[in-house]
Amino acid sequence: MDETEKKKRVLSGNRPTGPCHMGHLFGVLDFWRRLQDKYDCFFFIADYHSLTTHYDRTDKIQENVREATLDFLAAGLTPEKSTIFLQSDIPEVAELTLLLAMITPMGLLERNPTYKAQLQELGIETPNLGLFQYPVLQTSDIVIYKADYVPVGQDQLPHVWISADIAKTFRFKYGDIFPIPQELVGEFPNVPGIDNRKMSKSYDNAIYIMDDEKTTFDKVKMFYTDPTKIRKDDLGHPDGCPVFFFHKMVSGVEITGIIHEECLAGKRGCVACKKEMADSLNAMLRPIRERRQVYAENPDEVRKILITGGHRARAEAQDTVRKARKAMGLSEWSRL
Ligand code: TRP
Repeated sequence: MDETEKKKRVLSGNRPTGPCHMGHLFGVLDFWRRLQDKYDCFFFIADYHSLTTHYDRTDKIQENVREATLDFLAAGLTPEKSTIFLQSDIPEVAELTLLLAMITPMGLLERNPTYKAQLQELGIETPNLGLFQYPVLQTSDIVIYKADYVPVGQDQLPHVWISADIAKTFRFKYGDIFPIPQELVGEFPNVPGIDNRKMSKSYDNAIYIMDDEKTTFDKVKMFYTDPTKIRKDDLGHPDGCPVFFFHKMVSGVEITGIIHEECLAGKRGCVACKKEMADSLNAMLRPIRERRQVYAENPDEVRKILITGGHRARAEAQDTVRKARKAMGLSEWSRL
């Protein structure tokens, strides 16, 4: 990234599906936090998108939005550097979705691998239009704020490509009013959970930012370890061990090197190794948890952050929608 890219705009969002765990923190949130220093960043909570699958389970949405906002702020996203807001606070995004839908071929959405996977996984037989046009809404999210780059994990890549496709079609037909977005793919580690499967809320194997230190410690004690290493002096296999994975994330390069050697040589027991890891993990999380606590006790401040971010985002959105309406030939002369 050179100097001229300094002012490029980055945008990304997260569906509010519940509190963030270490998978989110070491992956997405930490990646976003680092981008704040180089780019003009927009980060939002995608509550419209969560309705595409949760339209009949709406009781948790507001709580989840609140938790997600706290996790954003705890992880170090800050209103001083970034525009942080709630998707549904900007109604223009829905209007632009309608306009973009006019130039989106059904086939493009039918081929979307994420859509196909979701129908299968969730056993959906009669898909709703909202889920089908998920990528159109996502395109609107991106282009309405004139984002250049969209940082995402591998799983979201097809969506960003669809967005670039729709944006190109728009530009070809109506002119240049927003950039063609490009993905920024982070090197996200695949964070293992307590049972060594991928860390996930649905596997019930996660450590959360909002867990306290004792809970974290107790969860670390339950971690899966090498089944061939029963006694302390059995030779270990640190590569592939979830406890060692976390050491790499939180214990520092030098100590991690020593742990690696000791484990291989049978000079390190798993019980002590877990305790050390829990201590380093808790130490790393301490400032993050403290920040979360401070914001949790100041809901008015959190609300203000979303409102301030929302105003800035909305001004951009209104500008884009005004230009898009004009470009697509809609009349302005009787506009209210
Ligand atoms: N679909 C994304 C996810 O599930 C969330 C999202 C919505 C998003 N709109 C976006 C991500 C725009 C990047 C850009 O994680």
